[in-house]
Amino acid sequence: MILLQIPERRRSVDVAVIGLRGGELELHELSTTVLPVAAAQAASEYLAESGLADAAGKVHTVTLPGAVPNTVLIAGLGERTSDDLRVAGVAIGRAVSKLPESKSFAVAIDAPEAAQSKALAEGLVLGGYSFTLASKAEDQLHTIDLVGNLDRPGLSAGDEAADAAGWARDLGNTPANELNPARLGELATEQLTPAGCTVTVRDEAWLAEQGFGGVLAVGGGSASAPRLIEVRYQARRRRGLPKPPHVVLVGKGITFDSGGLDIKPADGMRMMHTDMCGGAAVLGAVQYAAMQKLGVDVTVLVPAAENVISGTAMRPSDVIVQYGGRTTEIGNTDAEGRLILADALAYAVDRLKPDVLIDVATLTGAMRIALGTETGGFFANDDALAGALSEAAVATGERLWRMPLEHAYAHRLTSPVADSRNDPGHPGAITAALFLQQFVGDTRWAHLDIAGPARAASETALFSRGATGYAVRLLGSYLESLGGDSE
Ligand code: BES
Ligand code: MN
Ligand code: ZN
Repeated sequence: MILLQIPERRRSVDVAVIGLRGGELELHELSTTVLPVAAAQAASEYLAESGLADAAGKVHTVTLPGAVPNTVLIAGLGERTSDDLRVAGVAIGRAVSKLPESKSFAVAIDAPEAAQSKALAEGLVLGGYSFTLASKAEDQLHTIDLVGNLDRPGLSAGDEAADAAGWARDLGNTPANELNPARLGELATEQLTPAGCTVTVRDEAWLAEQGFGGVLAVGGGSASAPRLIEVRYQARRRRGLPKPPHVVLVGKGITFDSGGLDIKPADGMRMMHTDMCGGAAVLGAVQYAAMQKLGVDVTVLVPAAENVISGTAMRPSDVIVQYGGRTTEIGNTDAEGRLILADALAYAVDRLKPDVLIDVATLTGAMRIALGTETGGFFANDDALAGALSEAAVATGERLWRMPLEHAYAHRLTSPVADSRNDPGHPGAITAALFLQQFVGDTRWAHLDIAGPARAASETALFSRGATGYAVRLLGSYLESLGGDSE
């Protein structure tokens, strides 16, 4: 883990990080306070000899025996765009994390604009992420002094965004034997209550009273009963100003997806403890909203259930009654995500009357095949909302692509015994979205299918291996666009 700080006065460090752009070291007044001229010269000479690339994401280690600092990390900054600074930050964060935590570190890179500072801080903290099982030894803690020309609010926003994404990664990476629906509720309560949120965890008795037939059917086969996690963050009210907008975020919280009786093959099942990454993403996003005191009201709903097999598991051909009364024929028990989301979406529309409703889910293998693992797909029934989400994606470097809610395929949802079926067939990502749309009425709504980018098979420019925390920063940025700091 990496902790960022702005030192009150100059101090010498063991390891200095400086930028490289267009083949030149970015030395300036501030960096020379941590990197004495002699050391800088030695580094420059070394650089000239080896002709190192300055692409963002490259970090070169130069050791200067006897000098202070005795290690200089030279980080490529590319074109110095926010995306470049974020990628550079991740690479620096990773390099720093590999060095002993007993050393002192300073990053002397300028990022004067808020967006640049946010990106740099975000990158550094994301790069310092590593997952350690709760039962294992503590993660190392590296402290980094930031000594460039920087924007403080931007830094703190980036720090908080990466922190929230890191928490979402932790939740996603925790194995299902340590994270069942009830435990997810406990962890959300422990984490978000101190941040100023109100967390309510509903149990199976409440779910039954309220008619959450989808959540109960999906969770019915498990020894760990389902839950509905509800988190509220309220923006500070200010006299004379209109009420802030209310956004409801719904996240799929399947703590393990075996497929149910329509069981998955071994290769497809192994990583299915990450099937709650949509839920983790919306929990991370509301943490960011609360920490940044954004001027928007946010309610998060995470229907949480384990999709496994027993004598009480749902069967293919069962007909269930969703929240609000619509019926669904279970064509395939592995299409469980939409069943729990449908209940939560209908509940949100009925009880919370949101201005905007967004759901996030590792919903379909089809979306993963369509867009791969670096890009999420989304659907929206409102062009302005779609535009705002696309802008948030660009601002945060989390790639997102809009897909069509093509009603020509809606006939595939018909069932002879129910209002619709849960396995409408091809094109799988679109028909899944059409299934969900039946539960949102005319509420402004978007559905993010993150089955691709929610997890990474190996490290990428921004992601760590395993759960990636994808969509936390993008949703955070979207919320920020509706209402900045409410203080
Ligand atoms: N959780 C899976 C989707 C998924 C697949 C996420 C791969 C991440 C990686 C979802 O519950 C599922 O099983 N979907 C089925 C639906 C089908 C049975 C209609 C799918 O996509 O195959
Ligand atoms: Mn499934
Ligand atoms: Zn699933």
